[in-house]
Amino acid sequence: MNAPSNTLEPRPAVRAIPRVVHGAVKDHELALLERSGISPEAVLDFSVNGNPLGVSPGVLAAVRSLTEPEVRRYPDDEATDLREGLARRFGLEPSNVLAGNGSSELLWLACLTYVQPGDRVIIAGPTFGEYERAALIMGAEIVRIDATPADSFRLRVAELKDMVISSNPRLVFLCNPNNPTGTYLDAHSIETLAAAAPRTLWVVDEAYAPFVSGVDALRACIRLMHAGNILLVRSLTKDHAFAGIRLGYALGADAIVDALVRVKPPWSVSRVAIAAGLAALEDDAHVSRGRAVASEAIGYLQTELRALGLHVFETRTNFMLVDALPYRSAAALRVVLLKHGIVVRDCASFGLPSTVRIAARPLEDCRRLVAAFAVETSRQNS
Ligand SMILES: Cc1ncc(COP(=O)(O)O)c(C=O)c1O
Repeated sequence: MNAPSNTLEPRPAVRAIPRVVHGAVKDHELALLERSGISPEAVLDFSVNGNPLGVSPGVLAAVRSLTEPEVRRYPDDEATDLREGLARRFGLEPSNVLAGNGSSELLWLACLTYVQPGDRVIIAGPTFGEYERAALIMGAEIVRIDATPADSFRLRVAELKDMVISSNPRLVFLCNPNNPTGTYLDAHSIETLAAAAPRTLWVVDEAYAPFVSGVDALRACIRLMHAGNILLVRSLTKDHAFAGIRLGYALGADAIVDALVRVKPPWSVSRVAIAAGLAALEDDAHVSRGRAVASEAIGYLQTELRALGLHVFETRTNFMLVDALPYRSAAALRVVLLKHGIVVRDCASFGLPSTVRIAARPLEDCRRLVAAFAVETSRQNS
């Protein structure tokens, strides 16, 4: 349908904003599967990369215990208890902590607060699509440095350093560990980069840091935050698997947090999210167990899928990339697996049309995934 001639035009910057594709199985796909005898409950979703154990009983109980008067009142706009709890945990002050409606809100806030039209924003890709969108909303000029499969998706740190020195960006987005590649940059490299561009805001998205095995990735970068140009952004919706509730937090120098607070929409963190967050802080064991399950699952999947001849990339977190070329494309492989009641993430929207991302799930689910691949591999070979 043609737009009526009197349609109001949005700001020019808005026309440049792409529609970001996120993963997760679509309702119409579930309906299709149901018609072929696979019930929605039986579908195994490997495209969602949160804690493989799901939501902890403590978080569910906290959400359920909210009373009618609590639900009726506005939440504490400053999420004081939660910020104090997070500050205590990391040896910081509450003024270093900001809670948000998922980490997405905080990533957006960083751009809304710091980026002006024409400013350069560097994105180390391929990565989460919301960085580009948040920067484009503000009319930024996006500069990319993309890692390649030939390099096992490793970030070219020295090149990025030269790039920030020569192009003087207003902001750099680093996703660590990176979605979808699973690569991880150590704290020393981030420190060196941030020191090379002290007038640039380095937004380090640590949404998947709780799942990095072998180092305490949640603590690794805390001291860097005092440099005054690093904002660490984290997602409780990943480590505690409550994406439906929406809760994230940012850690940064007082001045950065203060600036973000001025821009943040009011009451964006609901009373439900605050209750869930406080309960989550009491239940670290749930995250440790999730990390152990994820690590076991990733190890198992790497071994079994490689044994079937698939190219599986190395990863430091709870998801991994698999080359879909034997199936022509990621989209084709996704459809093949969907018929087995299995959902994987087609990475075309990350600029990787022949790669799928598979997240960790409990071992018995992983066995079903491997069995599906085994059936399809023997079909291809016959
Ligand atoms: C790297 C990364 N950061 C942030 C988010 C947003 O998470 P949330 O807004 O649920 O905290 C996602 C979601 O997929 C992500 O992959």
